[in-house]
Amino acid sequence: MASTPETPDAESSSPDASAADSARFDQIVNLAKRRGFVYPSAEIYGGFRSTWDYGPVGVLLLRNVKDAWWKSMVQQRDDVVGLDASILTPPAVWEASGHLSNFTDPLVDCKECGQRWRLDKLDDPNQCPNCKKTGSFTEARNFNLMFSTHAGPVADEGALAYLRPETAQGMFMNFKNIINTTRVRPPFGVAQVGKSFRNEITPGNFVFRTREFEQMEMEYFVHPDDAPKYYEYWKAERERWYLDLGMPREALRLREHEEDELSHYSSATADVEYLFPWGWDELEGIANRGDFDLLAHTKRSGERLDWFDQAENVRYVPHVIEPAAGATRTAFAFLLAAYDVEEVRGEERVVLRLHPRLAPYKVAVLPLSKKSPLRETAQTLAAELRDEWSCEYDETQAIGRRYRRQDELGTPYCVTVDFDTAEDQAVTIRERDSMEQVRIPLAGVADWLRPRLK
Ligand code: GAP
Repeated sequence: MASTPETPDAESSSPDASAADSARFDQIVNLAKRRGFVYPSAEIYGGFRSTWDYGPVGVLLLRNVKDAWWKSMVQQRDDVVGLDASILTPPAVWEASGHLSNFTDPLVDCKECGQRWRLDKLDDPNQCPNCKKTGSFTEARNFNLMFSTHAGPVADEGALAYLRPETAQGMFMNFKNIINTTRVRPPFGVAQVGKSFRNEITPGNFVFRTREFEQMEMEYFVHPDDAPKYYEYWKAERERWYLDLGMPREALRLREHEEDELSHYSSATADVEYLFPWGWDELEGIANRGDFDLLAHTKRSGERLDWFDQAENVRYVPHVIEPAAGATRTAFAFLLAAYDVEEVRGEERVVLRLHPRLAPYKVAVLPLSKKSPLRETAQTLAAELRDEWSCEYDETQAIGRRYRRQDELGTPYCVTVDFDTAEDQAVTIRERDSMEQVRIPLAGVADWLRPRLK
């Protein structure tokens, strides 16, 4: 069902990638650690099973991805409302949704070396990729990807709970609440951003596939006759979102699922795919879920989850179109797409060409000297800019090195306060991609930046 295509477990690089792609991938993983984007979780204890922490810079990038999604999917629309549902969920939800019986991957153990594999993703289902032994696998068994726990002090059957493996069910759980307490009417959507958990057999490729990750999902409820139309609409909308934020056209595609790939709830699904170093892989799935979920929960809960159209005097179960994206995976793809290395005056320049809306810091203020009055002028300017944007302030090292550091963070603009500033009340602004510089009045920096950072 909804489990995603697998690549072999590799923490930093993939054996499928060409040597050049693999080297580039390793450089990006290295930059991510060095510049505070992503750290291995619990690193002082040797790390913990493909879990990652987003550092001071990564948290800004991730937040900007989620904010850009929320803005386009909720804030700028009058037909979508937001939700933040709980992660801990009772078994009944997953029984009805089909996850308890279907959210499984076929797992085999190699009797020779003890490694575990997802059978459906092995090139040769008879040979262990680790020890190369043939015929050494155990019988395949269905491994459920949901994490279970117990709510409360008694760890018995009645207290069993699951960490949600998708945010989507929260929207179905609250369908009735939302239609009863807001002014929505089909077609309308409910959107949510939040953590999901899957006990992936083979996590890997850095933050691409992890056991704890963030999703950005929207369930769009429509009249059954309109479902094919909105399926097409959302495919186009979602592809456009990635392109608008700077994803290169040639590295992005929409791929319609074959019949045998479809999840148990879906009559049609298309993936938005990005050309990762190991090949095309999924960023987001847009699915036509039909009336599967509302009917399943109606049956299991006894609560009628449908819509009464007063104007037409008809009652119907809305069909659902679902654009389901991964926030952590998408942030990673934007990082990969933005990474560039070029030669400038005989020296290598590493630059993250992130869209200004995604850039962790929008601007950096760099006084040419720590001395008075440059420092005070620069600090006052930085304080003013921080009112609107995340702003770096850096007064250490040579200016060239400071520019390079900001290039590696993807900061679109650097403002330099220099020795002439006291005289002419002007500063120099350097643009990240072109490295061009303009001199503008000190008092006009925010006005100059505003349209460029939209
Ligand atoms: N509600 C439908 C659903 O969850 P999915 O294709 O299984 O569909 C949606 O997940 C998105 O969530 C994927 O396209 C991917 O971006 C992200 N995702 C899924 N599993 C992930 C994992 N283990 N690590 C990181 N992101 C994941």
